[in-house]
Amino acid sequence: MRILLASSNTHKAQEFEVILPGVNFLLWSGPDIPEDGAFFQDNALQKAIFARDWHAQHGNENIDGVMADDSGLCVDALFGGPGVLSARFAPRLAYSEKNPLLLSMINSGETRTARFVCVLAYIGITGTMREPFTISGSVEGVIATEARGSSGFGYDPIFIPNGYSKTFGELEAEIKNDLSHRAKAARKLALRLGLIP
Ligand code: IMP
Repeated sequence: MRILLASSNTHKAQEFEVILPGVNFLLWSGPDIPEDGAFFQDNALQKAIFARDWHAQHGNENIDGVMADDSGLCVDALFGGPGVLSARFAPRLAYSEKNPLLLSMINSGETRTARFVCVLAYIGITGTMREPFTISGSVEGVIATEARGSSGFGYDPIFIPNGYSKTFGELEAEIKNDLSHRAKAARKLALRLGLIP
């Protein structure tokens, strides 16, 4: 099965490929996709519909569906931020500076609870699921007191999933791929597409 992923993030594609057996992802190579919705769900749908319509006009490859995800880190002490703005928080900074900046915004003594959230939107091009739909997944945890580890991407070095003492940046990829917000949403999608029993 061939799915056009409305993202050029290779980390995400690798994570999805592990979870969705037999799916070959085509990475997005079209124009920048607008994402100005107020919620993860709005953005995921917006990206999937944009990618479907763009591919219908300009795409050369045969595909079976289009998938988009919108995800982010929601920190309770920051009233759910950066949340839907995660990709756009302190945009000029690299994550090596962005993560310490985010840590400095949480006062000592404040709750450090947080979650990664992922909403996936899927639209079938072949088959029966031609109407866009969304599916979500989340992973609960706490924000570390300092950035640790270099695996994964983005906010991984400052997020410790519940039940662990290491950050996603320190944990092995297999563990993150099992626990993550993206993994949970992708497993639900795999079930819905009949890729796993
Ligand atoms: P999106 O590509 O618009 O969905 O933006 C998601 C942003 O949320 C990314 O650029 C990261 O900053 C953050 N994010 C989402 N998922 C993860 C993850 O698994 N690890 C670390 N950061 C993530």
